[in-house]
Amino acid sequence: MKFNIIKDNINLDNDTLFILEIFEKIHESKSFQYIETANKNYVSHIKKNKKISSRLGSCILVQNTEYMHNAILTVGCGRENNLDIEKYKKIIKSIINYIKFIRYSKIMLFVSSLNINNLSLYWKIRKSIEIIEAELYSLHDFKQHAKTSKIYLNEVIFYIPYQNEIKQAKLAIQHGQAITLGIKIAKDLNNTPPNICDPYYLSHQSYKLKEKNCKKISIEILNKNDMQNIGMHAYLSVSQGSKKPPYIAIIKYHGNDQKKEKPIILIGKGLTFDSGGISLKPSHRMDEMKYDMCGAGAVLGIMHAVLELNLNLNIIGILACCENMPDSLSCRPGDIVHTLSGKTVEIINTDAEGRLVLCDVISYVKKFNPKLIIDIATLTGACVVALGHHYTGLMSNCDNLCKKILHSAKITDDLVWRLPLHKKFLNQLKSRFADISNSNGNEGGAITAGCFLYEFAKKYKWAHLDIAGTAWIPGKNKSATGRPVKLLTQFLIDYLNEKNK
Ligand code: BES
Ligand code: MN
Ligand code: ZN
Repeated sequence: MKFNIIKDNINLDNDTLFILEIFEKIHESKSFQYIETANKNYVSHIKKNKKISSRLGSCILVQNTEYMHNAILTVGCGRENNLDIEKYKKIIKSIINYIKFIRYSKIMLFVSSLNINNLSLYWKIRKSIEIIEAELYSLHDFKQHAKTSKIYLNEVIFYIPYQNEIKQAKLAIQHGQAITLGIKIAKDLNNTPPNICDPYYLSHQSYKLKEKNCKKISIEILNKNDMQNIGMHAYLSVSQGSKKPPYIAIIKYHGNDQKKEKPIILIGKGLTFDSGGISLKPSHRMDEMKYDMCGAGAVLGIMHAVLELNLNLNIIGILACCENMPDSLSCRPGDIVHTLSGKTVEIINTDAEGRLVLCDVISYVKKFNPKLIIDIATLTGACVVALGHHYTGLMSNCDNLCKKILHSAKITDDLVWRLPLHKKFLNQLKSRFADISNSNGNEGGAITAGCFLYEFAKKYKWAHLDIAGTAWIPGKNKSATGRPVKLLTQFLIDYLNEKNK
């Protein structure tokens, strides 16, 4: 979708569909004034139409006639001065869902004349771009007789009458487009079936970034051999039951002019399928474990957004790809493995595989001398029990980092809730034979998983995001959400802004 702005007087002589807000008191609409300035006939013609309603989200198409060259879509906005963010979202959603079924390729929105409490023009534009892209997202399906509904819309124009608002409008478009691109990439990849999106496929998707910009991106992919030589035996124990070998994609984005600036590291769990291994999962909804790579999908999406935004930071994105399958060569409950850190782990439950993969990657990234590390993982069912599908779980050893992440969560509406990491939880992971075990009972399961990772991340500024409940919508309408691409891209934008202060 193209997003543009127009600042000059409106030209009613083209093929644009105008979206006109309708309030209870119809004359209160500022956009009427803009249109009236361009052509008086329009307003009187629209006011004659009895169907037009101010009911929130109600859309009526006023066709073009001999008086009106352009058609106008009126959208009900309720009482003026009574708009909040939820109502605003509903208005934009209604417009887009109406437009899906009509043949207009260009629309014009008058967002700057809508008053929403405390929302700047920047946020009105950003939110509308995010909603438009989310509403128009279509699943790539594999149906023989696909119902293809062609969408004609390809350009959205924002009318910005005030010169002093142009700059923030342009910034909102740039940010909105980069973030929605990242979300789309994450969604597409996460929705791809696990026979196609396997560890090789997932890790090698990162080369698309290099095709876009070979100067700022460098990519290294570690294979099973490399991992053996490095000593990532916890990671390897997870993939040893699968014929599909593991890969780690290391995507370096050199955005900072001073090459030596320490990088921010994002690590994504990329289990392209998690059957549970020998501790096999029940078959009900096991298909959804293709979404166990949503952390890696998000990291890749974020890297695309970062490249688009050309952020002046050094960032390393890591996709930790593998598959957890039952096999005669699978690891067993009772196995003890040597992690890269030197610590030994007793595998009590082969389904607690995410932490085994992540702990070795967390140790591995020490060589990059990170400024901070954030890992993103569909790590525990317990996190879904605790926070449902609304909040991503956050665990961290750094209050300041949490503050920043929670701030980005608040302003993007990509919600996050912090859970406590306390030594007491670690007792639950005591092993009789090894330094630590990978699982215990279920109590506080999201936190014990966080504590396990903390044992390997102590020396860094580190945060862990458990996205098990938020990365996809389960059940009948299952689909990836693209979370937390918005959250973390915002975090990086804010991080840079603060640095430049
Ligand atoms: N990938 C799952 C976590 C998961 C489960 C995400 C359901 C989303 C929905 C993870 O690898 C896992 O299986 N975790 C176990 C840990 C347990 C064995 C300690 C779990 O949550 O049951
Ligand atoms: Mn598992
Ligand atoms: Zn898993």
